[in-house]
Amino acid sequence: MSRMILIMDRSHAIPCLAVFCVLLLCAIPSSGDDTDSSRSLIEFRKFLTNATMLNDWKEPVANLCSPIWTGCVCTHGVFTGLKLEGMGLGGTIDIQSLSNLPSFYSLSVMNNSFSGPFPSDLNSLRKLRRLYLANNKFNGGIQDKAFSGMTGMRRVVLGNNKFTGNIPLSLLQLPGLVDLQLQSNQFEGKIPDFWQADLIVNFSYNKLEGSIPATLRNQNASAFYGNKLCGKPLDACKPKILTWKIGIIIAVAVGVGLAVVIILFLILRRRVKPLKYQKSIDKFHKEEQIPSKSGTFKNSSEHGKLQFVRNNRQRFELEELLRASAEVLGSGSFGSSYKAVLFGGQPYVVRRFRQMNNVGKEEFQEHMRKLGRLSHPNLLPLVAFYHRKEEKLLITDFAENGSLASHLHSKRSPNQPGLDWPTRLRIIKGVSRGLAYLYEELPTLTLPHGHLKSSNVLLGSTFEPLLSDYALVPVIDKDHAQKFMVAYKSPESSQNDHVTRKTDIWSLGILILELLTGKFPANYLKQGRGPSADLATWVNSVVREEWTGEVFDKDMNLARRAEGQMLRLLKIGMCCCDWDVNKRWDWKEAVEKIQELKEKDSDDDFSSYASEVDVYSSRTMTDDDFSFSKA
Ligand SMILES: *[C@@H]1O[C@H](CO)[C@@H](O)[C@H](O)[C@H]1NC(C)=O
Ligand SMILES: *[C@@H]1O[C@H](CO)[C@@H](O)[C@H](O)[C@H]1NC(C)=O
Ligand SMILES: *[C@@H]1O[C@H](CO)[C@@H](O)[C@H](O)[C@H]1NC(C)=O
Ligand SMILES: *[C@@H]1O[C@H](CO)[C@@H](O)[C@H](O)[C@H]1NC(C)=O
Repeated sequence: MSRMILIMDRSHAIPCLAVFCVLLLCAIPSSGDDTDSSRSLIEFRKFLTNATMLNDWKEPVANLCSPIWTGCVCTHGVFTGLKLEGMGLGGTIDIQSLSNLPSFYSLSVMNNSFSGPFPSDLNSLRKLRRLYLANNKFNGGIQDKAFSGMTGMRRVVLGNNKFTGNIPLSLLQLPGLVDLQLQSNQFEGKIPDFWQADLIVNFSYNKLEGSIPATLRNQNASAFYGNKLCGKPLDACKPKILTWKIGIIIAVAVGVGLAVVIILFLILRRRVKPLKYQKSIDKFHKEEQIPSKSGTFKNSSEHGKLQFVRNNRQRFELEELLRASAEVLGSGSFGSSYKAVLFGGQPYVVRRFRQMNNVGKEEFQEHMRKLGRLSHPNLLPLVAFYHRKEEKLLITDFAENGSLASHLHSKRSPNQPGLDWPTRLRIIKGVSRGLAYLYEELPTLTLPHGHLKSSNVLLGSTFEPLLSDYALVPVIDKDHAQKFMVAYKSPESSQNDHVTRKTDIWSLGILILELLTGKFPANYLKQGRGPSADLATWVNSVVREEWTGEVFDKDMNLARRAEGQMLRLLKIGMCCCDWDVNKRWDWKEAVEKIQELKEKDSDDDFSSYASEVDVYSSRTMTDDDFSFSKA
């Protein structure tokens, strides 16, 4: 009953949740018989010492959750883990006896007196998501393969023990890892290249050395203290000290090289010294730069100064850009954009913005340089910009496969397939990782993206998503932003005239629904402020159709067993576009749930899916309920 009531409380999403509720009733792992499980726990206890607090673990019982056994974690009446913290326990963690438990997601033995090696065969607990061994006296090395195959693993908390040896490499194989705490041990060697996007680590007070991997440079510096590490976020690594002989040889070589370069440069400069372009650049601007028939920008008679914001790019002049062969890509609410192909065939996109005068020149340049420092596989990099009072040009890379919007909504030739589910899933995962990066890197911006929509999700050569037009709110004219930018179509913007750090998540929610249904959110970019009635109608129609199971875009390959995962994503979309900002998910939760999605349903998916949906809708328990109070 309580579940039903809690679900009903999410008012606007009732029809959707009602369906899930129906699913739940048939899919929840029946809390029927725990006899085998309780037998396994009794067996597990035999390997513990000083287990006086577990005295109720005596006879097998039919239900571990009512009355609940000491140290058992129950989620809606189903046994899901062990929380044996601060009980003075010692002995051995016998993984074998736990490996038969049907839905065993979390294991904590923090703050006890365990010593000896890391539990062997831990990875036979395939479903484990959270492992807490902190504050014990475990010692010895951990095998590289200790975590292999544990693809659901999210939190690994081993702090304050005496573990030695290298950081186990199988931690790199855990796609959903968000929390890794190895502090205050005796781990040694180098830190491997962790790549997981939302991972937060703590490696402090070990014996680690070498440079910190680039992927971890955004972590808090305190995560690395007490080691022999260098590089961001700590001090830069010192170059190796050279003996004076090598030093001198290199100095001489550099000197000679430099001289040659300078001479060559002077010669070349003289040869290709450009004409002096004196005419006003206005001409170029007045002529609207529609590529002429010959396929080049007209009247490129003046070169202004392009300002590059990245060091790793070849420099060019505005003049070269204007002379390059160009093609109109389109014109949006901000202005038109062109593709220009430079020397060597390198394509760039030039975007013109007229309503970009919200801040003065200095501040504008500062903001552009900030954008230039952003670097993430799912962001379309800003390469350079050009500032002029009347208009600004932003030069970005070119994405080969166009926009997500064009793939979802434009007509295809009959033999051209639509985006299949695995591709869409990869796209939305990448989008959310890119967005999470913006949230992290731009903590002072209320709207880290501000204009998230399917036409601003570009697709690279392997269909990896690249967010574009991000973080422009601070420089766009206020009234123009409010008229056109997606964030200002959100309910909170129209109703209460303000946007919040959750507003971009609303746009993400709409994008998810669009991605799944293949339907264009009708007129939601209509001119004017606030969500149009059409948008509300559109979301409702998505929800309503969910009843009939007709909701998913037929272009996805539905034959594969993935409907459970698609439903999950749909549910995530709903939670992201909750009208009520307080109930709406924040970015961390949204991103975390999206990253957990899989391409295919697995055998036990349905039950865990059901219980997770349950968790979403009731909001009585989150991943962090079983949390670790940082020691
Ligand atoms: C560890 O457990 C003991 C009780 O056994 C408790 O007094 C102490 O506060 C706990 N320490 C931490 C850090 O949780
Ligand atoms: C045994 O556990 C109790 C608490 O359950 C604790 O006070 C005691 O110190 C523990 N004994 C040993 C030897 O760890
Ligand atoms: C780093 O972490 C410490 C403690 O956890 C906190 O006080 C500090 O503000 C953090 N610094 C940054 C830059 O996040
Ligand atoms: C890492 O752990 C150390 C030691 O417990 C703590 O002082 C520091 O604040 C932690 N840093 C982070 C980022 O969690």
